Amino acid sequence: LVEGHGVKGLSELKIKTLPELFIQPVEKRLDMSKVVPYESIPIIDMSNSDDPKVRDAICDAAEKWGFFQIVNHGVPLSIIEDVKDATHSFFALPAEEKKKYLFKNSPTKNIRFVTSFIPEVDKVLEWKDYLSCFYVSDDESMAFWPSVCRDQILEYLKNSESLIKELLEVLMQRLGIPKLDETNQGILMGSRRINLNYYPVCPNPELTVGVGGHSDVSTLTVLLQDETGGLYVRKLDSDNWVHVPPLKGSLTINIGDALQILSNGRYKSIEHHVVANGTTNRISVPIFVNPRPSDVIGPLPQVINRGEKALYKQVKYSDYVKHFYRKSHNGKDTIDFAM
Ligand code: SIN
Ligand code: FE2
Repeated sequence: LVEGHGVKGLSELKIKTLPELFIQPVEKRLDMSKVVPYESIPIIDMSNSDDPKVRDAICDAAEKWGFFQIVNHGVPLSIIEDVKDATHSFFALPAEEKKKYLFKNSPTKNIRFVTSFIPEVDKVLEWKDYLSCFYVSDDESMAFWPSVCRDQILEYLKNSESLIKELLEVLMQRLGIPKLDETNQGILMGSRRINLNYYPVCPNPELTVGVGGHSDVSTLTVLLQDETGGLYVRKLDSDNWVHVPPLKGSLTINIGDALQILSNGRYKSIEHHVVANGTTNRISVPIFVNPRPSDVIGPLPQVINRGEKALYKQVKYSDYVKHFYRKSHNGKDTIDFAM
C-alpha cells in the first residue's frame, strides 16, 4: 500500500491476484450458503409519518430486524445525489491530496482517511478506503475538511437532521418517552460521524471482505448506498443473512449498540457485512448518529423505572467507542464492554 493511494490505488494497477494481506480467514468471510434470498428487511414509506401504522412499523422493524429501509423520507434527492458525487470527487483526488488526511498528517483529529477498518490493528486488511468526519456543529475544525466534499456533506447533515429526530422520537414513544427535548436529545443525537466509503473493484472478491461482520456503536445509522449492492444483514437470533437491495432514493436505517443499551435491549443492533465486488466500484455514506463523547450511557431511567432489570451497566460513551476502535471487526462483541 502506497500512502494516499489506498486499495483504490491497488485496484487501479489492475493486479490479477489479491495480495496476501487481504486474504481473510474463511470464518471472517460471508458464507453465501447462509444467505436467504426470499426474505428482506422492511421497507417503510414515511410520507405519512404521523400515521400510527407507520410509527408502529418503524418500532416493529427496530425490534425485530434492527434494520429497515425508508422511502419518501423528506431528504431531497438532489442533496443525496450531491453527496454521492462529492464522494466520487474526494476519492478521485490525487494520492498527494488524500495523503494529507491520513491519521499522522491530518490537520485535525476530527477527520481521517483510512484503508481497511483500523490498519494499525487489523491483522488482515479489509478491501475498503474511507474518509471519516466527526461533526458536532459548524465549528472551525471544518475549515480543514476537503473542499471537494465539505459543502455537500454539510448540506446532507443539515437536511437529514429532522428525519433523524423524527425517527428517534417515534422509537422513544414506544418506550414511554413522549418527545425529544433538552433532557434526552444530547444522549440520543448529540454528535454525528459521517463516513465516505469506497470499495474498489477487487481481483479475488471471494477471498476477502469489504467490511467484516460488526454492529455499529451509534444510536442510529442512516446509510446511503449506491446502486451496486453488497450489504448483508444478519437475521435476528439466527445464522442467516439477507441482502439489502439498493433502492433508488431510499435510505437504510439501522439500530446501533448505543440504542440497544439505552433501550435496555428492546431495540437491537444487528451484525452486518459488506462483500467485495469483482466488477464494480461501490460507494456508501453512513451517518452515525451518536451520543456526545462525554455522555454516560446505560438503560434509560424511564425504561428501568417500570421494574425491568438493567441488562447493561453505565459506560462513558467515549470509552465505549475507544473499545470499538481497539480491535478488528468481530460481530457484536463490542457490547460485552457494557455488560
Ligand atoms: C458499514 O456498515 O460499515 C458499511 C455499510 C455499507 O457500506 O453499506
Ligand atoms: Fe456498519
